[in-house]
Parts: sequence; structure tokens; C-alpha cells
Amino acid sequence: MVTQTFTSLFSQKLAYSSDKVRIVGVDEYKQAALTLAEAFYDDDVAFFFLDVPDNGGKTREQLWPLHLEILEYIVLAHIYNGLVLSIGENHEGVALWMPPGANMDDWYTIFRTGMWRIYFKLTAEGRKRYFGEFMEKLHDTKVNALGELDNDAWYLVYIGVTPKARGRGYSRKLIEHVTNKLDADGGAPCYLESSHIRNVPMYQRYGFINHSRIHLGEGTKKPVPLDIMIRPAMRFTKSTGRRMSTVGYKLGAAPAATTTA
Ligand SMILES: CC(C)(COP(=O)(O)OP(=O)(O)OC[C@H]1O[C@@H](n2cnc3c(N)ncnc32)[C@H](O)[C@@H]1OP(=O)(O)O)[C@@H](O)C(=O)NCCC(=O)NCCS
Repeated sequence: MVTQTFTSLFSQKLAYSSDKVRIVGVDEYKQAALTLAEAFYDDDVAFFFLDVPDNGGKTREQLWPLHLEILEYIVLAHIYNGLVLSIGENHEGVALWMPPGANMDDWYTIFRTGMWRIYFKLTAEGRKRYFGEFMEKLHDTKVNALGELDNDAWYLVYIGVTPKARGRGYSRKLIEHVTNKLDADGGAPCYLESSHIRNVPMYQRYGFINHSRIHLGEGTKKPVPLDIMIRPAMRFTKSTGRRMSTVGYKLGAAPAATTTA
């Protein structure tokens, strides 16, 4: 019995240490989406356009199929236009990155991924929130926050680790896979919206700094806060082992706060 426990612990550890970040291909998009759907099951931003007053009182469990379907379209769009990374034997950690100048809301991508179906599956309020607020506000906020840097910035759109696989360093590896390469290459800014205040210190440890706070659903009973964070371009010099911020640019202004947290 003791041997068995030791062996399983040992093999688990081996599995962790051999975990490498890899690029997710089209044939794996459903698995990657499942990881994000699980990771964001209790996330108010992911459910902002699903948990709506006109959905007939559906629970999160009832909303799960649509939550998963939406993430499948989003993952596919990032496979086509951006970079989808995963880690773990069964893609337990997944990150969606958009490189500078790329996005997922052009018509070709909307049709190619099947994302257009979202329009018909959401309720009227859900549509308003998804297209009118979620997509539009996040786009405008990014453009304004990054200012002239918007065209150079890497956008960490989603990162999620299944509850059972948390605390193994997966998110660090998924983020540093990109930031280390950027730093070694002379530096480029990175951008994200943190959907939960508890994640802010984690992003700070990766070099992101707080820019501002916005809210989705202002004027509703439950506005959802998002922390806008930017990692300035940094340059890593191998000979000194130092990582320096390549300052000398201007970030856009923070939007005026209209809601208190
Ligand atoms: C946030 C999340 C991606 C972290 O993934 P993870 O693989 O468990 O994180 P890691 O094991 O790589 O931990 C990274 C570091 O942050 C710390 N950390 C992890 N989660 C943290 C949290 N919620 N708050 C503060 N620190 C945290 C770890 O201690 C670790 O620190 P270290 O590298 O200095 O030792 C994961 O908890 C998750 O999927 N949450 C739900 C979805 C979500 O909130 N996604 C982010 C949306 S903004």
C-alpha cells in the first residue's frame, strides 16, 4: 500500500517535470476549450452575457453547453489568427495569445470558426452584452490603454488551468513561454484584462503593472470589474542576466472611473 502511494506520487512528479508548453493545433481545439470552460466556470466575465435576466433563470449548469461552445469558437479563432498554448498531459493549462495586429472579430474568422452562431444562441440581453459591451468595450479599452503601442502588443486573451492542476506552475510556464521569447528578442509590450482581483498579484510577479479598472454591466445590479494590466517591453541581456524595461513610450490615459468597486 505504502509503495503504491509512493509510486503514484513519484510518477505524478515525473509527469509534472516533463510538462512542456506546446502549440495547440486545430485537431485539439475542443480539448483546449474544455479546459478553459472548466477554469472559467465560476468566472463572472465569462458568464456576463450568459447569466442574463432574460435567460429564463438558467443555472450555470444549464448554461454550461453554451459556455463551452462559445469557448470552442474563441479557441479556434486563436488557433487560426493567434497562438494557443497548452501544458499538461491533457491540456490542463491553456493560454490564448493574440500577436500584434491580429484579432478574432473580422468577418472571415467569424464565419470560418462558426462564431456567427453565437448571435442566434444568446438572448436579446446576452447579444447586447456580448457584441455591444464585451467585444466593443474591451477593444476600445485596449486601444486607449496602449495608445501608440497597440500595434506592437501581445494580448493574453485567456489563461486557464483546470482546478485539479492548479499550483503546479502551469500559468507561469504558459506566460513566460511568450514573455521570455519577447524579452530575449528585444522586448514587446503585453496586455491583459484580469477578470478576478485575486489574479492581479500573480500577473504582477510576471512583470505586468496595473493600468486601470473598468466595469462591464455598469448600471446593472452586479457590475463586473476588470483590471487592465500592461507588461512594458523588457529586454533581457544574457551576459548580465538582467531584464530591463525599455521605457520611453507613452501609455494611453486610464478611462475615467464611473463605478466604484
Ligand atoms: C489563475 C490561474 C490561471 C493560475 O494558474 P496556476 O497554474 O495555478 O498558477 P501557477 O501554479 O503557475 O502559479 C503562478 C504563481 O502565482 C501564484 N498564484 C497562483 N494562483 C494565484 C492566485 N489566484 N493569486 C495569487 N497568486 C497566485 C503561485 O503561487 C505562483 O507563484 P510563484 O510562481 O511565485 O511561485 C488558475 O488559478 C485559473 O485557471 N483560475 C481560473 C481562471 C482564471 O481566473 N484565469 C485568469 C483570468 S484573468
